[in-house]
Amino acid sequence: MVYSARVLALLLAGSIALVTGSFLSLLEGIDLSEVLVASAISFSSAYLLVFVVLEFLIFKEINKIYKLMGKLRKRELSGLSKAKSGALNPLQKINEEIFAFASLKQKEIDELKKLEAFRKEFIADVSHELKTPIFAAQGFVHTLLDGAVNDKQVRTKFLKKAAKSLDGLDALVQDLLTLSQIETGDIKMHFEQIDLRKLAEEVIDQFEEKAEKKKVRLKLQADGHDRVVAYADWQRIGQVLTNLISNAINYTPEGGEVSVSFEVSKKNVLVVVRDTGVGIPAADLPRIFERFYRVDKSRSREKGGTGLGLAIVKHILEGHSTRAEVDSTVGKGSTFSFKLTRTKANEEQ
Ligand SMILES: Nc1ncnc2c1ncn2[C@@H]1O[C@H](COP(=O)(O)OP(=O)(O)O)[C@@H](O)[C@H]1O
Ligand SMILES: [Mg+2]
Repeated sequence: MVYSARVLALLLAGSIALVTGSFLSLLEGIDLSEVLVASAISFSSAYLLVFVVLEFLIFKEINKIYKLMGKLRKRELSGLSKAKSGALNPLQKINEEIFAFASLKQKEIDELKKLEAFRKEFIADVSHELKTPIFAAQGFVHTLLDGAVNDKQVRTKFLKKAAKSLDGLDALVQDLLTLSQIETGDIKMHFEQIDLRKLAEEVIDQFEEKAEKKKVRLKLQADGHDRVVAYADWQRIGQVLTNLISNAINYTPEGGEVSVSFEVSKKNVLVVVRDTGVGIPAADLPRIFERFYRVDKSRSREKGGTGLGLAIVKHILEGHSTRAEVDSTVGKGSTFSFKLTRTKANEEQ
């Protein structure tokens, strides 16, 4: 049996006309032609009414739903245009609901797929990064065991190298832990009014020896500011400064200069870490905040870099609703800066 609107309308209209005709014929004083005319009128109006209702309000919408389902199965959702809203027809509303629900789910699925790909890549990266120092340390230790241990000079040299690899491993695991703690929200940002000048002085103190060894001048430029107050997490911003200053020193050759300065405006403070180092090629700039992305892999490792420093910086600054800006010229130097708000009111906007 074919459930088309036309067949159903014909059947219904036929029965309505039949019933109308039979009732009319029961009345007295009515002749056959009147009964026929009345039946014909009721047949055609019933046919029209039923056909329109079925075809345009029900079948058309149901067909649309079927089509939508078919496309969903074939994942062609993007090709469908969004239905108009505000429909009175309940079926059309259902159709719209299904469409909205399906696009939401499709978006979620796409997002999950992206995350899954990201996770796989991250695990591959981490394994690779872990492998490098472990292999190196393993090699040194085995060479020592194989006899090199008897040569005093070689012994010290190899032990030092093994220790350096293990230090690198330690730094990597520390950075990974920090990153994952920030991501899972295990470390809550602890916002308060902090003095950035004091914080910068503390961080600079820690790097004084390293800078001296590398013959890089490290200085704080905060003339005219006894205190530079910002509303931020002391420890986390300390970590940001540590990473930025450590990079600046690492990637600046002998005789260069690294400076930390502040630009205070009415609502914000801009913290600027500037170096006269090797600089970053424009093509690499958009990627340096990615995990494990390095412009020069061997140079970074040799300096004890984990490739995670700037990823941590990015995460912490995101927690402060801000981001780092970089300006760099190869061979001339780099400037990393980020804005912090001065008061809580700003922060909560
Ligand atoms: N001040 C800088 N000057 C030049 N290159 C930099 C500087 N800061 C970061 N970079 C580049 O960005 C990369 C990523 O930095 P980071 O995430 O801290 O990792 P790394 O452990 O390698 O230092 C570095 O490997 C380096 O190539
Ligand atoms: Mg670094």
